[in-house]
Amino acid sequence: MKKRFICQSCGYESIRWLGRCPNCNAWSSFVEESIEGKGKRVSEPSVAPVALKEIEKVRLERTRTELAELDRVLGGGLVDGSLILLGGDPGIGKSTLMLQVAGRFEDRKVLYVSGEESSHQIKLRAERLRIDTDIKVLAETNLENILTWIERTESDLVIIDSIQTIYHPGLSGAPGSVGQVRECGNELMRMAKRNRVTMVLIGHVTKVGAIAGPKTLEHIVDTVLYFEGDRNQRYRLIRCFKNRFGSTNEVGVFEMTESGLVEVDNPSSIFLLEGEKDRIGSGVIAITEGTRSFLIEVQSLANPTYFNYPQRQASGINYRRLILLLAVIEQKLSLPVRQYDIFVNVVGGIRIDEPAGDFGVVLAIASAIKNLPIPHEVVMIGEVGLGGELRPVSAIEMRIREAERLGFKQCLVPYHSKRIKSGVEIQRIKDVRDGYRVIFGE
Ligand code: TYD
Ligand code: MG
Repeated sequence: MKKRFICQSCGYESIRWLGRCPNCNAWSSFVEESIEGKGKRVSEPSVAPVALKEIEKVRLERTRTELAELDRVLGGGLVDGSLILLGGDPGIGKSTLMLQVAGRFEDRKVLYVSGEESSHQIKLRAERLRIDTDIKVLAETNLENILTWIERTESDLVIIDSIQTIYHPGLSGAPGSVGQVRECGNELMRMAKRNRVTMVLIGHVTKVGAIAGPKTLEHIVDTVLYFEGDRNQRYRLIRCFKNRFGSTNEVGVFEMTESGLVEVDNPSSIFLLEGEKDRIGSGVIAITEGTRSFLIEVQSLANPTYFNYPQRQASGINYRRLILLLAVIEQKLSLPVRQYDIFVNVVGGIRIDEPAGDFGVVLAIASAIKNLPIPHEVVMIGEVGLGGELRPVSAIEMRIREAERLGFKQCLVPYHSKRIKSGVEIQRIKDVRDGYRVIFGE
């Protein structure tokens, strides 16, 4: 019988066991596979192809978590018997969120498997969250015992906190290694499908942003959720990266409070600063997340630089994008950006990934440099091109509607945007120069 070793992370094949994969650099990712009987055909296949139209349609049964923001992201609730991966940085609130969900599954059986915290710690947290439903807590890391208990308790919802602490006794790798995570994930998936158990696997994520070990589970699970936000800020976003039962572009917004996570049903309100005052260096932009638009405040500070090399700092927007926009400001608005240290911050710890915020960032920086305020009832929408021109953005209607809903008076939009009827005044802007004139009147 011939043997070979396969990297469980990238599929690289080796005749020896290797500690680190030469192809993808994953550690302890090799698993032995024997290739006995390879190429020989089994006598009679157990499944046969079926005509598509003869396949029975099954209705998806969903259970609402009653956390509207989470249900939205999931596409209407947890699909019964589905496997969900919930990733996020340590301390972001994954355990809190899942315990809250568990507490809302009232008339169903819930098993909370904790490999990280003792049952006492979970009890304390549950008290804080005022959860008094009948959740079963299992402090265990051995996969075989966990599987036994899932069957014995006949649970409907199982939460594994976290997948990196669970180990398969038949494998040699340490808990959290790629091989362990993958094998445990596979076993749990089989159990979820066989017994129609809804299962949530919590996975810690490395700072770089990739779900390191749990990343290998992304293709076996039905749904991948990612909890993000700044630990030091109150707001948390939950995003869906994969969803076999719904769309992936929705985002849920939560606030971390004394008594757990609370849904934020009017997200724009938290990303806008209080008070109706024209502020220097601060402007409002409109971003989109799935089927919603949020208004967000962008702040900028320009301080005369004391070194030969001016400082630039971006939080919430891409650094390279900032550098590019600064070049546009210098060239097209003739502002002396190189004499200033420039800081840009997006309020509420949110990250802007779409270029529709460019225009607002440019004007916020211009405002900071010129020490001139931007009127507070204006929303700036538009992507800025290298020539300083304003390019149309997607979903302009949705953005303007949000501005109208929140009582803004004016929207500055790219010149070639679709014509839209709205209660707010819409001003079409050709380029950053034009926008500068409209805002600062120079
Ligand atoms: P936790 O759910 O333990 O994070 P994770 O499982 O992702 O590592 O929560 C982490 C933080 O949340 C912790 O620092 C304390 C804070 N927290 C609150 O602010 N309010 C609460 O009600 C709870 C339970 C936690
Ligand atoms: Mg935790």
